[in-house]
Order: sequence, then C-alpha cells, then structure tokens
Amino acid sequence: MPQPSTAPCPPLPRATWTTALATALATALALTPLLSVVCGCASTPPAPTTPGSTAPASTTDPSAPPASPQAHGTPAPAAHTPPSPRGHAHGHHGPEGGPLVHRFEKAADWVPMFDAPDRNAWQKPADVIAAMTLAPGMTVVDLGAGTGYFLPHLSRAVGPSGVVLALDVEADMVRHLDERARREQLSNVKPRLVPFDDPQLDAASVDRILIVDTWHHIPDRPRYATHLRKALRPGGAVVVVDFTQEARQGPPRHHRITPDQVVAELKAAGLAPTIATEDLPEQYVVIGKLP
Ligand SMILES: C[S@@+](CC[C@H](N)C(=O)[O-])C[C@H]1O[C@@H](n2cnc3c(N)ncnc32)[C@H](O)[C@@H]1O
Repeated sequence: MPQPSTAPCPPLPRATWTTALATALATALALTPLLSVVCGCASTPPAPTTPGSTAPASTTDPSAPPASPQAHGTPAPAAHTPPSPRGHAHGHHGPEGGPLVHRFEKAADWVPMFDAPDRNAWQKPADVIAAMTLAPGMTVVDLGAGTGYFLPHLSRAVGPSGVVLALDVEADMVRHLDERARREQLSNVKPRLVPFDDPQLDAASVDRILIVDTWHHIPDRPRYATHLRKALRPGGAVVVVDFTQEARQGPPRHHRITPDQVVAELKAAGLAPTIATEDLPEQYVVIGKLP
C-alpha cells in the first residue's frame, strides 16, 4: 500500500515561481479577492465574513474523527475555525505529504468561499459534469459535498428519476445541504452524514462518485478507494477533481496530490484510472472506471 511521502518539498519549478511572483504582485495590487481559496486551506486565504465555532465534535457523532488515531493509523482531524490570514499556522495539518487533516465545522462560515460568485469562471462546472458522462436516472455521489456547490448541476444532470447522495463528515454541512436542497427544490438530493474513513455506501449501488477538492483530506486513501470501488455499479466511475501543483489556490503545495498519485491510489484499489483532458485552469480531473 503506498505510504504518504515524507520527502521535503522540492524547489519550486520556474512556472510555479513565476506564478508565485504574479500572485505576490496581484496581492500588492489588492487583487486578492480574485484568488479565492475554495479548499479553505491555502496559506493566504481571504478572511471569512463570520467567525467559526471551535466546539469539538461529540464522540458519538458519526462525523467525529477516529477515537484512536493509532487504531486507524491516521491522525485525528483537529477542530478548526475557518481560514484567517494565518489559516495555515494552526498546527492542524497532517505530516508533510500526508492527508491534510482539516475540519469544516460551521457551514455558514464556508459559504462565501465555496459558493463565491467568481468560482464558476475557474471551476467550470459544466466541463466537470461533461467529464462525468452522467445520464438521467443515475445515482451519483458528491463526496465531501461541502456547502453544495455542485448539487444543482448534479441534480439537473441525473434528473427526477436519478439520485444525488451528498455526503459530508460535518453535521452542520449536512444540515446546510438539506436546507439548500429544500430551498432550491432539488428533490433528488439526499444529504448524509458519514464518518471520516467510510462513505457507508451499499455494494454496487452508485454510478458515479464525484470528489472535488476533498481527496487530499481523506486519510488512508488507498483503503478508502476500495470502499468506493465496491460501491460502484458496472460501468461506474470515481471522478477526482483536485488542485494542481501550479494552482494559485488550494492547500499548501506539500499537501497537494499529483494526478499520477491519484491514479496510483485508484489503481491500487482495483479501478482503471486515467487523467482526463478537461482544461480546468486550477485543477486536474482523474477518472477511475470500474474495469
Ligand atoms: C474543501 S471542501 C470541498 C467542498 C465541495 N466539494 C466543493 O467543491 O465546494 C471539503 C469538504 O469535504 C468534507 N470532508 C473532509 N473529509 C471528508 C471525508 N473523509 N469524507 C467525507 N467528507 C469529507 C469537508 O467536511 C468539506 O465539507
């Protein structure tokens, strides 16, 4: 089973260096609002509009992190407030190259970031939906659904005869997803609270599993990918969308996962992954089909 790398960060390639310089210039020109941070974990994210809750999750709450980090071989995510200008200095992250353990406890704190009006321009949701080759009547999972940015798109694509399972580990996110689905009359959307280490999907029950900006937060990804593979119906696929090394936003670079690493993790779980040709400016798309 591949282990997270503990290798030190390599020097930034020229493209990254120039991007960093451009970012610094943009910051100096007060253009930081353009560099919105959808992951919620970049080193210089915008300040949230409201302060967050720091209450730890209940141990009986299925969203709670594993009680014994040793038993699971992964560190327990720390309770976390939304990003501040020093959002990455809180000591809540895993080891370098390991999963970015991070909490998103209060949905309202993340709405301005995850549902920012400028997100469509770089997220290109129509392109992501096209890459998923969805059809009416399908059952699709949005794993780590967050505030539900992708739900209207997924709901429309599978239609009234389809189902969208919106999974998240945060109870307040699930409450928010439920409220959003009602408000936007997305009657085929079913939000569900799941534990960190298991999507709790029935065997051979879903056609697509979308994972946007969330794969790098998952502990023991090869094992988790096995849960996902078992949940797929024949013809099913997992679709991972995450930030490139060069992206101007996203997690710290040493926590980013390369598309090749995602391919290796999905392959180890028995899927047949390929890097899609979708041209997203900040992210790559890996599609792992059930062979
Ligand atoms: C950066 S947000 C992305 C939200 C959404 N996919 C989007 O693109 O707007 C990551 C979300 O994944 C959730 N999450 C983190 N680890 C998870 C896990 N192991 N299983 C399910 N959800 C998880 C977090 O609570 C958070 O809502």
